[in-house]
Formats: sequence, C-alpha cells, structure tokens
Amino acid sequence: MKDEVVVIGAGGHAKVCVELLQAMGHRIAYCVGSADSSDHCVGVPVLKGDENLKKLRQAGYQRLFVAIGSNAIRVRLASLALEQGYQLVNAISPHASISPTARLGVGIAIMAGAVINAETRIADLAIINTGATIDHDCEIRTGVHIAPQCCLAGNVVVGRMSLLGIGCKVIPEIKIGDEVTVGAGGVVVASLPNRTTAVGVPVRIIKQLPDV
Ligand SMILES: CC(C)(COP(=O)(O)OP(=O)(O)OC[C@H]1O[C@@H](n2cnc3c(N)ncnc32)[C@H](O)[C@@H]1OP(=O)(O)O)[C@@H](O)C(=O)NCCC(=O)NCCS
Repeated sequence: MKDEVVVIGAGGHAKVCVELLQAMGHRIAYCVGSADSSDHCVGVPVLKGDENLKKLRQAGYQRLFVAIGSNAIRVRLASLALEQGYQLVNAISPHASISPTARLGVGIAIMAGAVINAETRIADLAIINTGATIDHDCEIRTGVHIAPQCCLAGNVVVGRMSLLGIGCKVIPEIKIGDEVTVGAGGVVVASLPNRTTAVGVPVRIIKQLPDV
C-alpha cells in the first residue's frame, strides 16, 4: 500500500486542504480534478476525471481526502471513494485549538485559527473553516460547512450538509436543520427547519425547499 494521500478536488478549497495535509506531515500524491482544472494545485499534479480514483486505488493508493466545498458533492464523492476501498484522513491545521474532549469523525477539514471547545462532536466530512469558533457541547453533523469566522455558542446542533456562511453567529441551544443555508453575516436566534435559507440580523427565512 502506498502511504501518500490522494486529494479529490483541485480548486481553492483544495489548495488550503493540501497545505493543511502537508503541514500535518502527509505527502500528497495527486489531486483528482475535473476536465477544466489546472494542471497543478499548489504544486501537486492534477489528474482530470473521477475515473482516476479507481486507477489510483488499483495502483495501491488507499488514503484519501475530499477537498470539495459543496457539501452535497463532498458527501457523494466520499461515499464513492469509500465504496472503492479508500480510507478518509482528516486535514487539521496545527494552528487550530481542539479540546481533548471533542470528538471528531473522518474526512474533516479544520482550518487555522478554528477553536472547538469541550465535548463538541464534529461528524464525518465537516469543514470548520478559518477562525470559526464552536463552543462546548455542540453537534456538527455529517457534511456541514461552518465558514470562516462563524461563532457558535454552546449546545448548538447543525444538521447534515448545512452551510453557515461567512461570519454567522448562533446563540446557545439553537437547532439548525439539515441542508440549511444561513447567509453570510446572519445571526441565528431561533431554530431553523430543514432545507431553508435564512439571512439577516436576526435571520429570517427567505427560501424553503420541499422535503425529499
Ligand atoms: C444566502 C445566500 C446563499 C443567498 O444566495 P441566493 O440564493 O443566490 O440569493 P440572492 O443573492 O438572490 O438573494 C436573495 C435576497 O437575499 C438577500 N441576501 C442574500 N444574502 C444575504 C446575506 N448574507 N445577508 C442579508 N441579505 C442577503 C439579497 O439581498 C436578496 O434580497 P432582495 O430579494 O431583497 O433583493 C448568499 O447570499 C450567501 O450569503 N452565501 C454565503 C456564502 C458563504 O459565506 N460561503 C462560504 C465560503 S467559505
């Protein structure tokens, strides 16, 4: 088995994740991008097309990180990679502060300056972006993206594949549903149902998609 990590994605988010993985001491073999990706991603060669995942697996690569910003695409590609026998690694900045009692899943990105406090749970494939702070006893579910400079107070739950846009604030005890988007700078003072988009200070719901 080869020890180097394969990264899915070759865009801006992948650039940050590649450098996080390198800061952890990982060597990155390839990024796997789309047909219109650049040839390199911060110096790492890019293979174009998802079919390369199977070839790399056959060539003995096993460790993988999905560096795609879109929550739905990240979760879908991770599930494809797991079916092919890859193992997901985490990309965690040495400049993040993570409580020893926090619990982390796999395939997670935690960027520089992020703070994760006591007994918070971060599920698989979540992104805790630059400078975001997540206080005690929060639950961040699978495939969530907490964008840069968000602040979550204690006991907040964020449902599967939700996005909190850059600079959001969430008061204690709030429950945010699955596939929710909170617009940049939003302040969440009441719980939000599944599949809603909410913006403003405090946030108001501007879109509600039907349940699937
Ligand atoms: C909330 C958001 C997803 C809405 O995008 P959209 O569905 O394309 O909606 P629109 O741009 O058409 O805006 C709809 C209305 O909401 C308003 N609006 C959009 N984003 C807003 C925000 N963050 N705060 C306050 N109002 C906002 C628009 O002004 C518009 O108002 P109007 O109907 O009175 O003209 C987007 O604006 C946003 O904030 N995305 C966050 C992105 C982000 O932080 N990503 C993290 C990257 S690391």
